[in-house]
Amino acid sequence: MSEKKLKFNSKTIHGGQQPDKAYGAVMPPIYQTSTYAQTTPGGHQGFEYSRSANPTRTALENSLASIENGTYGLAFASGLAAIDAVIKLLNPGDEVISTNDLYGGSYRLFKQVFEKFGIKFHFIGMQNTDTIAEYITEKTRLIWIETPTNPMMNVIDIKAVSALAKKHDILLAVDNTFATPYLQVPMDLGADIVMHSATKYLGGHSDVVVGALVVKDKELADKLYFIQNASGAVCGPMDSFLTLRGIKTLHVRMQRHCENGRAIAEYLANHPKIEKVYWPGFEDHPNHDIAKAQMNDFGGMISFIPKGSSYDDAIKIVEKLEVFTLAESLGGVESLAGHPASMTHASIPKVEREKSGVVDALIRLSVGIEDVADLIADLEQAIGV
Ligand SMILES: Cc1ncc(COP(=O)(O)O)c(C=O)c1O
Repeated sequence: MSEKKLKFNSKTIHGGQQPDKAYGAVMPPIYQTSTYAQTTPGGHQGFEYSRSANPTRTALENSLASIENGTYGLAFASGLAAIDAVIKLLNPGDEVISTNDLYGGSYRLFKQVFEKFGIKFHFIGMQNTDTIAEYITEKTRLIWIETPTNPMMNVIDIKAVSALAKKHDILLAVDNTFATPYLQVPMDLGADIVMHSATKYLGGHSDVVVGALVVKDKELADKLYFIQNASGAVCGPMDSFLTLRGIKTLHVRMQRHCENGRAIAEYLANHPKIEKVYWPGFEDHPNHDIAKAQMNDFGGMISFIPKGSSYDDAIKIVEKLEVFTLAESLGGVESLAGHPASMTHASIPKVEREKSGVVDALIRLSVGIEDVADLIADLEQAIGV
């Protein structure tokens, strides 16, 4: 059956995959090799050195392209390495417009690494597409969005931003880490580049650090493959294998993440000791209509603030949790809790952070796929009743 005809839940398993050429292995072997024998210079079977290409990584890259409805996939040593490759498409003097409540590490890469090479970044609220238009100049080359945003769960209208980007001949890149293609397919909404911290939901088991890019355009893909090989931040065969294995169960895990996420968001919203819950599935979420239009469900990422907005109360809650682990990261089968102001978003200056709502009392949950009753009981003992 043609790959194109497969539905998403089949693409996660079969997309871009073939039995291995050597012995028909159904899962690609972990080709733990740096180099490949040649019969004569250039006489090889498509692989010559593993920075340039490795069969296990190629199997992962084909899967990534398939699940994101793209044509070309590229796997990197981390999500940040994937973002780094995208920014290396630019030249000094170029400008980028990015959302202001993005992952702290992406902000740090933009501000502290690339700004000194003469690339200018505008960090702005993007819930209203008209605001983006105000920042476009003849130097704008890239719009970088995350949706839902980390950790405020704002939702950005990918289709509307894509129309704006196309009108001005600007590339649109979407960090799809939080939603995954189970919930939204940015390429179908007009994105040029889809990026993942595959460390999160794609890998799904908190056992790898891997990044991904997917594109449709051949010229763009060639430029990115050049940077991937020239800069060399590739992932190894073992990590490629584990990520590919993770992707095969993405759809079943995501279904449960969404179910548990909904139950916990509702539990917190009705809790007398909770002031505010950020989750795009609520009808009163400011971007709920866009979320409903561009996402298939609302995911398992939730942020909340305890009543009184006290830093100490937030810290007490995360310290008391027992089933939720206090840890960086998200998207694994196990539930995690984080304190963005001191953990994932500590690299963003407090004033900047607070402008987008990342206050000191904010707690972020990555709701896992455990029994939801255990998760609610854990929150109850940590928050009180
Ligand atoms: C939304 C988002 N983008 C990018 C990254 C960076 O990915 P990595 O940690 O794999 O480098 C993260 C990591 O937390 C993230 O949450």
